[in-house]
Amino acid sequence: MMEVYLDNGATTKVDPRAVDVMISFMLKDYGNPSSVHSLGQNAEEHLEKARETIALKVNAKRDEIIFTSGGTESDNLAIRGVAHKKGSGHIITSKIEHPAVLNTCKRLENEGFSVTYLGVDKEGFIDIKELEDAITDKTILISIMHVNNEIGVIQDLESIGRIAKEKGVIFHSDTVQSFTKVPIDVEKMNLSMASFASHKIHGPKGVGALYIKKGIGIDKLLYGGHQEKDLRPGTQNMPAIMGFAKAAELMTDDDLARMQKLRDRLAEGILDEVKDCFLNGSKDKRSVNNVNISFRYIEGESILLHLDMHGISVSTGSACSSQSLRPSHVLTALGLKAEEAHGSVRFTLSRFTTEAEIDHTIEAVRSVIPDLRKMSPLKKGMEDMKWDEVDHDHA
Ligand SMILES: Cc1ncc(COP(=O)(O)O)c(C=O)c1O
Repeated sequence: MMEVYLDNGATTKVDPRAVDVMISFMLKDYGNPSSVHSLGQNAEEHLEKARETIALKVNAKRDEIIFTSGGTESDNLAIRGVAHKKGSGHIITSKIEHPAVLNTCKRLENEGFSVTYLGVDKEGFIDIKELEDAITDKTILISIMHVNNEIGVIQDLESIGRIAKEKGVIFHSDTVQSFTKVPIDVEKMNLSMASFASHKIHGPKGVGALYIKKGIGIDKLLYGGHQEKDLRPGTQNMPAIMGFAKAAELMTDDDLARMQKLRDRLAEGILDEVKDCFLNGSKDKRSVNNVNISFRYIEGESILLHLDMHGISVSTGSACSSQSLRPSHVLTALGLKAEEAHGSVRFTLSRFTTEAEIDHTIEAVRSVIPDLRKMSPLKKGMEDMKWDEVDHDHA
């Protein structure tokens, strides 16, 4: 059976070239970058090169990048770091952020900070005017994600950055899903901080980075040694950092163009042929690797399991929330009814995805959906009704 991995929004296969680099930093160049001897200094040199690689990808400077354990830590360090440095104040974020941002903001509310959660329109965009109006003289931070992990929608960071600059507010973005897939220019976007994670780009898990613009003061989360500009103590995870930097180097414009073509082939192959389904999120301003479709009258969970039997891995909602019975907070923020949100499937491609895999997936979806609908109690009860007429609370 053909194995098709279309859950690259959750995590990706590590590129073998990144694995090779990692192995050499475990077996050969295993020094601690804080050590003074040659092995340590060699590690330090490579660490700084890796920092430069990440910085160059986003038009930052080498000493504006610090390495962390991944996207969650970077988001926490950025948001809690600013909040605790300032001591009090108001934060603006959106309702469709990843839990790494949302739950950090909720925690800060418990600590006395106030938070505005901006809604989004039905395509998934925040309203820039609403953001501007939400800024007060107490606002200490704006944190708006670049690419949404569930629906792939790309927010207009340049416009947000312009407003943040005008009002003198620190601007952080969770760019975990966009890094290397959608251009990021911290200068043009006026970003003060940006979070990255290695395992979304064919690097290893458990490593990431935070861009912090020179001059932005934040408190640290952990106390210990003075590594990473005294902001993130602990011996650096050199093999993982080197694998991350290698993975960041490997993504090419050709890869992106190919992914976009396959993304569109997949979306059209399903939307044109399968009845009663629709694309979630903007059609045009979305990441090159994301297709999110709601199938009416059936549960995303059963679609996922049936596609799994065809060797295809997808997700419903985000991987982090797929254990929960609550409908996705992102899809409900778009205005979807709970049933429509529950019927959603996210297909996320990678640069390893092939045309044959996409065609296999289209075929499988075209056969699985009508089969599931035949069995669906929701569909049976609705044969003579329009979807909108159904009492959704009891569906
Ligand atoms: C948008 C976004 N932010 C943050 C994270 C968390 O990153 P990590 O898994 O590296 O902690 C993820 C991972 O799913 C994500 O998609």
